[in-house]
Amino acid sequence: MAEHQVTKSPAVVASGANPTSERCIMLIFGASGDLTKRLLVPALYNLACDGLLHENFAVLGTAMDAMTTEQFRERMSADIKKFHTRKEFDQAVWDKLIAKFHYVPGSFGDANVLATLKSEVARLDAAHDAGGNVLFYFAVAPKFFGLLCENLHVHGFKEGEGWKRIIVEKPFGTDLASALKLNREVLANWSENQIYRVDHYLGKETVQNLLAFRFSNGMFEPLWNKNYIDNIQFNVSEAVDVEGRGGYYDSSGVLRDMMQNHMFQMLAYLCMEVPGSFEPDAIRNEKAKLLQSVREYTPDEVARYCVRGQYGPSLDKPGYRQEKDVNPESKTETYAAARFHIDNWRWEGVPIYLRSGKALWKRGTEIVVEFKKAPEPMFRGTPVTSLAQNRLIFHIQPYQGIEIQFQAKIPGPRMNLQPVHMKFGYGDAFKASRYTGYEVMIYACSHGDATLFSRGDLVEAAWRVAQPILDSWRDAPVDFPNYIRSTWGPKAAAEMIARDGRRWHEVVTEDVLKQSPLFRDGDTLFLEQVIMALKPRQVSAGEMIITKGEVGREMYLLEQGEVEVLDDGGNVIKLLTDGDVFGEVGVLLSQPRNANVRAKIPTDLYVLDKADFSRILRDNPNFAFAIQQVAKERFSINVKTESLISST
Ligand code: BG6
Repeated sequence: MAEHQVTKSPAVVASGANPTSERCIMLIFGASGDLTKRLLVPALYNLACDGLLHENFAVLGTAMDAMTTEQFRERMSADIKKFHTRKEFDQAVWDKLIAKFHYVPGSFGDANVLATLKSEVARLDAAHDAGGNVLFYFAVAPKFFGLLCENLHVHGFKEGEGWKRIIVEKPFGTDLASALKLNREVLANWSENQIYRVDHYLGKETVQNLLAFRFSNGMFEPLWNKNYIDNIQFNVSEAVDVEGRGGYYDSSGVLRDMMQNHMFQMLAYLCMEVPGSFEPDAIRNEKAKLLQSVREYTPDEVARYCVRGQYGPSLDKPGYRQEKDVNPESKTETYAAARFHIDNWRWEGVPIYLRSGKALWKRGTEIVVEFKKAPEPMFRGTPVTSLAQNRLIFHIQPYQGIEIQFQAKIPGPRMNLQPVHMKFGYGDAFKASRYTGYEVMIYACSHGDATLFSRGDLVEAAWRVAQPILDSWRDAPVDFPNYIRSTWGPKAAAEMIARDGRRWHEVVTEDVLKQSPLFRDGDTLFLEQVIMALKPRQVSAGEMIITKGEVGREMYLLEQGEVEVLDDGGNVIKLLTDGDVFGEVGVLLSQPRNANVRAKIPTDLYVLDKADFSRILRDNPNFAFAIQQVAKERFSINVKTESLISST
């Protein structure tokens, strides 16, 4: 039967009760695997709990594991206890749902197994009155996608009443050529509107909200262009390493694993033109157009704009090359940072920075939109010496929120400014349960709504941007490892953006700051002000950070790494490490430094300037008092309140 043409995307029904998913049989290939137990089944359970799963629904799982339906149900019942995402587990909902689960063991390359699956689908369809609708879920290795499409076609799964749709997991291809081939294979017997290519980032509420934010609010879209935006940074930091997935990861790397798909999807949402409607193809057309406008780099441009890294060991944990199933001489990148150009009218000249990596200092996904500075000359003659840029920050995960940073006048008789922010947190505004991201995809697919899925041309456009980088990196020699676990990544990434006169915006949290005794007792208001004033800096091993005799006007918070304090003879008198603060005297008094401080290993620092610090202390007299205590105990100096809060 022909595909339904969707006239109204259920994902955008604005009010009233949401309709349930459409009735169907969901045939899962790879039903004994990780994805099924960790994400698909918890997602079905969430839909059931929220009354969004149609009554006329059943699951038919299949995989190589020899299991009966009963055993499959037992296994899923044990797993759901571990992987469900709700505050409380609702046994009654689960009992009802699991009774709809069935299982057929065997290989999908085997004609007998396919025949059994076909008759089982027909039996379940009749038993559950599913209207002939079948959702095929390919939770199997990508190399089987083409074969599976072919086999389903040959064995007549497309025939009969009702819709037939396929959800294909990522990765869709491993390079441009394989993606083109896969698209040909998949589309040989199926039509584009039956294929739903998953990118689980599109299932994230905070990612979907990018569209709502841009297009349901009148005040931002007029600013959304090169006239007002200075640069955009996409940051996906992962604290985890390859987590035992070395075999897969070593043939992938972060460019394929994160950038070409998840990050390009976010990029497309954030930067695409305004679609004519919320129709799936209206949105997908604009996304494809945007990715087609991203410049494909020459080898020279790759060398200039792209940086890669690979983590080395830390004291107690292995480096990437020592991970299980990883080639000990692997050239696979676990970190990448790049500047992209979108060659269209809206974005011409606006740098688009992307970076992502594994085994980094924190887990956090953020998009930072930095606006152009307001003109500074009118502040001549006031205490204001420079203006900070306005920033709009989309906190995608784990913290979910949106933040706007701007300047405000500090109450008082003179024109003094301070960066402040407004923050919206999802947790404060909505009570919704945490979802896995797969609920909305199963739900939308059942309605024939392809908005949240990648179309073939989009996948191809993304590969066209990634391919020249992959090619250059394959051919160029590399000196790996080049960053230590749990740091900010290779210094080359900071240097790349510094060449443009910019820096990465590191989103610091209160927890990070509280690692330091100096800030441990600070209240939220105070800490947030400090966070906004911190400037990230990376130093190489052996680099001098503080030189004796120079008048320094800043202090340092050591995020990751080791620095040595040296006496006049160059002997190490103290070793400082993560969470330590040094150079405080620089923000307390303007006097010559009394020791050299040098990085022992590559080190990540935050720098706090005296001017910023004084400004913050003016607002937080209690904390000025605490600092005076520290100054006395640690440096035996008496700092007067006036000199603390004076920036000169
Ligand atoms: C997957 C990648 O697609 O996304 C993983 O294969 C990565 O390597 C994961 O860890 C990140 O997803 P999330 O939702 O945790 O950001």
